Amino acid sequence: MLIRKNRFPSISATEITPREVFLNRRKFMQGGLAAAAGLSAMKASALVRPADASVDVTGPEWLERMVVNAKESPFGRDEKAAPYSAATQYNNFYEFGMRKTDPYENASEFKASPWVVTIEGECENTGSFALEDLIRGIDLEERIYRLRCVEAWSMVIPWVGFELSELIKRCKPLSSAKYVEFVTVERPEEMPGQRSVFSTIDWPYREGLRMDEAMNPLTIMAVGMYGDVLPNQNGAPLRLVVPWKYGFKSIKSVVKLRFRETMPATTWNELAPQEYGFYANVNPEVDHPRWSQASERRLPNSLFSPNRIKTEMFNGYGEQVAHLYKNMDLRKWY
Ligand code: MTE
Repeated sequence: MLIRKNRFPSISATEITPREVFLNRRKFMQGGLAAAAGLSAMKASALVRPADASVDVTGPEWLERMVVNAKESPFGRDEKAAPYSAATQYNNFYEFGMRKTDPYENASEFKASPWVVTIEGECENTGSFALEDLIRGIDLEERIYRLRCVEAWSMVIPWVGFELSELIKRCKPLSSAKYVEFVTVERPEEMPGQRSVFSTIDWPYREGLRMDEAMNPLTIMAVGMYGDVLPNQNGAPLRLVVPWKYGFKSIKSVVKLRFRETMPATTWNELAPQEYGFYANVNPEVDHPRWSQASERRLPNSLFSPNRIKTEMFNGYGEQVAHLYKNMDLRKWY
C-alpha cells in the first residue's frame, strides 16, 4: 500500500464511502457508462492507471466521481508514463521537506478535504469557494504530459484535470488583469517544511503566469493522476500543470488565485533571481548558471541505464506555445 488510509479524520465517516465500496461502485459506474455509450467496459476505463493495483488514495466521493468520468487524453498517448511509484515517491514539495522522498513520507496526514479556494483581485467574481462549487459542471480530461524539472530530470505523468481557462472564465477577469498569481496553502502544523528552522523559503509558495499563458489550452489545473485523485505529495487536491515550463511553475495545493495588473513575485525567483526567472520556459539553449539544460534524465533511470535524452525547446510543446514568446529575448526573459 503506497498511501495510508484514513487521511481525513476530521470528516465524519458518513461523508466518505469506504474505498472498497467506492471501487465496486466505480466498476459498476464504468460498466454502466460503457453500456450507455455502446462501448466495451475496457474502453470506458482507458485512462492510464498504475500497474500496481495496491495503490490507495482517497478523496471526497464527489471528486472521485468526477475523476472516474474523465475523458481520455488526446495528448501523449505515445509516451510511456512513469511508474506510479516513481511519480509518488520522488517529489519536490518543500512544504513537506527537502529530500525527494520527504513528501511521500510526510504528507499522509495532510487534510486535502474540505478545500476552499479564494479568488481575488482584478475580476468580477471574487470570494472564497468550496472546491466542489468552484469546479462543479466542468468536465475532466486526462492529459499525459512530460514534466521537466529545472534540476534536469523529467517524467511522463497522466494528469486528470481541466483547462485553467475554464476556471478563469468563471472568475470574469477585468481588462486590467494581465497576470494570475497562485498561492499554496500555509499549514505549518501539517507541513513540516513550513515550520522548519532550516527553510529559506518565505511561505506560502507562490507562482504566477501571464494571462495569455494561463489561458493557453495546454495549461491545466489537475485534481487527479493515473485515473485517481491526486495523492497529497503531488499537490492534492488542486495543482497547476504547465507542461512547457520548468516544474517549479506547477504549484501544488493551490488555495488562492489573484488576478493582477502587475507581474507577481514568485517563490524561486525571489530566492535566487539569477537562477530562476519568472518565465521558466524549458529551453535547452539557456543553461542554469550551475548546470546544463541541454539534456535531462528521464525517470525512472539507474546507474546502468541513465536514460539521458535531449531536452526539447518548450519541452516539445513549441507548436502550441511558441507564438506566446514571439519577439521576446528568451535569454533575457528566462
Ligand atoms: N509547489 C509547492 N507548493 N511547493 C513546492 O515545493 N515544487 C515544484 C512544483 N510545485 C513545489 C511545488 C517543483 S520544483 C517541481 S519539479 C514540481 O512541483 C514537482 O511535481 P511532482 O512532485 O508532482 O513531480
